[in-house]
Amino acid sequence: MKNIRLSSLVILLIACALMPVKAAETIVIETSGTALVFKAEAGEKLYQSYLGQRLESKTEYEAFSPAFDAFPTFGGKAFGEAALRIVHQDGNTSTELVYESVETSNDGDVVFTTINLKDPVYPVNVRLCFKAYQKSDVIEQWMEIEHTEKKGVVLYDFSSSYLSLAAQKYFLTEFHGDWAQEMQMEEQQLIYGTKIIDSRIGVRSNQFAHACFLLSENQKAAENSGNVLAGQLEWPGSWQLRFEVNQLGDLHLISGMNPYASHYNLPQKTVFKTPAFLFTYSNAGTGLVTRRFHRWAKQYGIHDGSRTRMTLLNNWEATYFKFNEEVLKGIIADAADMGFELFLLDDGWFGNKYPRNSDHQGLGDWETNHEKLPNGLGCLVKEATDKGIQFGIWLEPEMINPKSELYEKHPEWVITQPKREIDTQRHQMILDLTNPKVQDYVFSVVDRTMQQNPGIAYIKWDCNRYMTNAASPYLKPQDQSHLFIEYTRGLYKVLDRVREKYPDTHMMLCSGGGGRIDYGTLRYFDEFWISDNTDALDRIFIQWGTTYFFPAMALASHVSVVPNHITKRIIPLKFRFDVAMSAKLGMDLQPKDMSDEDKQFAKNAIQEYYGIRSIVQQGDLYRLLSPYEGRRTAMQYVTEDKQKSVVFSYLLKKTINGERTPLVLQGLDPNKHYTVKEINKDPKQYSWFSSLEGKTFSGDYLMKYGLRFTMYNEYDSKVILLEAR
Ligand code: DGJ
Repeated sequence: MKNIRLSSLVILLIACALMPVKAAETIVIETSGTALVFKAEAGEKLYQSYLGQRLESKTEYEAFSPAFDAFPTFGGKAFGEAALRIVHQDGNTSTELVYESVETSNDGDVVFTTINLKDPVYPVNVRLCFKAYQKSDVIEQWMEIEHTEKKGVVLYDFSSSYLSLAAQKYFLTEFHGDWAQEMQMEEQQLIYGTKIIDSRIGVRSNQFAHACFLLSENQKAAENSGNVLAGQLEWPGSWQLRFEVNQLGDLHLISGMNPYASHYNLPQKTVFKTPAFLFTYSNAGTGLVTRRFHRWAKQYGIHDGSRTRMTLLNNWEATYFKFNEEVLKGIIADAADMGFELFLLDDGWFGNKYPRNSDHQGLGDWETNHEKLPNGLGCLVKEATDKGIQFGIWLEPEMINPKSELYEKHPEWVITQPKREIDTQRHQMILDLTNPKVQDYVFSVVDRTMQQNPGIAYIKWDCNRYMTNAASPYLKPQDQSHLFIEYTRGLYKVLDRVREKYPDTHMMLCSGGGGRIDYGTLRYFDEFWISDNTDALDRIFIQWGTTYFFPAMALASHVSVVPNHITKRIIPLKFRFDVAMSAKLGMDLQPKDMSDEDKQFAKNAIQEYYGIRSIVQQGDLYRLLSPYEGRRTAMQYVTEDKQKSVVFSYLLKKTINGERTPLVLQGLDPNKHYTVKEINKDPKQYSWFSSLEGKTFSGDYLMKYGLRFTMYNEYDSKVILLEAR
């Protein structure tokens, strides 16, 4: 009896030894500071085991336990928010995903990882794709799905990423706003339940909220301390960010195109690719997040991030629609004389049957208006060239006024619901970019303008409304829910063609201000117009929020007149310049209306800007004092070699006894010695900085004791240049 039992035990042991052992793999997506780790076992669910700071030793990731479903699907055992929801051809509403394999490759700075998942029952394959940027320390994640179900499947949820965190508390900073008040920051603690930030408006989709966030663990987000996950979606269409804190206190973040009213009929053997979600995890607060995003953007995220951005004078606030050749020639001459590098002609230069003399008509008719510009655009390009500056042109090629020749010819090209009254915004409608013929037309607008007027160096691409009455005359009735997605894909096709033919043209992304700012679109554009609000005080807040994610080199900031056209606020010219100089300097006013004194100040300021431009445009940003927290605000740029730095400080409100918060600098080399010098001085303003002027301090001193000088008056501002000896 004893022998029988012993032999069965031996057989069992041998059988076990012969059975294939399923080994759990550890998949690590890693950058220089961040790690995202998965546990995978063939034929089993994929789990995320970690998202946080990178470990020194890679082998130690293997000890991590599987913690969270890495990409939960609807219909199985999970009950939380699903990252993917499909209805199969037989009506089955469930999808299960198991791990199949992983592929990695390496392109120097970028490590690519693809995790292959499949449904064990239905022929559906899902790929979780990652690009880990080693140096800039950010990760892009997106999802690809395809299948071979003959009759097709319907996608109801199609996220780009699903990431989980386990902390005691979560603090979310969102960036919301509206026209002329973009990128306003608001922080709140997330408690149980789901918080959604989203956009459902298809185009100009950042009008009310931006697809970016900061998520701080355990404490409110701080500039130089604490664990922060920061992310943004690279997509200009409708988007959604879902933050779910579940019953266990874990946080799940789902990002992607907004599935709202957008279910997608996916035919077999067609890859459906989601936009990338860009994120980084910092253990040293939000400052580090910013510098990582900026460095990444300059190398990968914006068009030609290494070239210098030009200063320019834009005629929009100078003339609006009221100008002629003579007026523009005058502005061009003044722009050149003042030291600008480019003149940008804004809206109002086109339309003949319906002259574009207001925003009521003419949009779509891209022929030069003969009355205003009898000698065409070419004559203005020549005028600019003769004066030694470049010429740029405004276009809004995706849009159309119903009162236009284009609409008379092609009423079937506009987005609107059949049988419903047309709904205009700013008297305009949107062209249906799902239609390849419309794509050709939009490309031809750009191409024709460029071909007919050789020498145009710059395009401002505007987009002044969002989608309502959203229906496409081109898409089939059963595919109408594809409109929000296919519109953006159509836009990308046009922009691909534009960039292929015009790789060197500088392009500004504008959407009635910052209605379309994202890295999906910015890869085609050199810079963006963040707001029609040029009031310098409001701009401090708008630019403060924007620069968490987007670098100052791409952020066009223009000096305009007082009282400001939108806010009616009166702010000194120096303050207006000092704010614009902290980003990409431009001007939006009629120079001939300036006093000689102001003009002289402006000329000097432009030259001063050239002296610090490379620091502002290519340097690292450090935020010193937040405008949300006190009367004085300050920020600093430092060159990569830490040889030069420039500090901007603004007093937002008068303080009777003087505002004396020290400016404790950051990012310098403690062992270098820096000479400090105030630039862009206003001779009329008493300088409380004079006791420091020309002195030399060590980086150590400046980063501990700092620069200490008092500011008293509302709209006092200082720009301080530091140069290492
Ligand atoms: C909205 C833009 O934001 C402005 O700068 C200007 O270009 C107008 N459109 C022109 O219509």
